[in-house]
Amino acid sequence: MSGELNSQLIMPLGYAGRIVRAGHPVLHRPAAAITDLKSAESKALAAVMLDHMAEANGVGLAAPQIGIGLRAIVFWVPRERIAPEEMAATEDADEDSESVHILYNPKFTPLGDQMEAGIEGCLSIPDICGMVTRYYGIRYSGYDLNGNWREREAYGYHARIVQHEIDHLDGILYPSRMTELSTLVYNDELAAARESRADPS
Ligand code: NI
Repeated sequence: MSGELNSQLIMPLGYAGRIVRAGHPVLHRPAAAITDLKSAESKALAAVMLDHMAEANGVGLAAPQIGIGLRAIVFWVPRERIAPEEMAATEDADEDSESVHILYNPKFTPLGDQMEAGIEGCLSIPDICGMVTRYYGIRYSGYDLNGNWREREAYGYHARIVQHEIDHLDGILYPSRMTELSTLVYNDELAAARESRADPS
């Protein structure tokens, strides 16, 4: 199906035609569960989200970020960001790493109480990033594109992306999770100083 057709299919859901930024109401309220997982609209939603994520060079995107208040997320994990535990725990972690994940109605529970601080960015808050403390390990679940239930463990950066995206579904943007607001800085200044950057999601 063409991108144009997919866009038309999700227009009635509130599709904004762009990635909306902090201040748009849809980013600040809880999203609704998707009830018809196998509908044409649900599949079109994932396709359009993937297009926007790729175009914006992001690692993750939640449906509210394109104006749609439904519980859908897409993301991928750059190979160099896979945690050692995950490599050890999952035989196909390496092969799996750069493939795209699509999840409807996702949930997670922490694995233990270990926390980790890391730099996050967000496509809905362009150009800046900040330090956020998240659970290091999680078990997450949701439905895939075919309506099949998926469940797995994730650690480190992978777990961080999932927590960031599920926060979007609850109307939470990462600055609300920050405990030290002085770490909220511009990407380019941070990159110039440290030669590192946060991948937005
Ligand atoms: Ni985000």
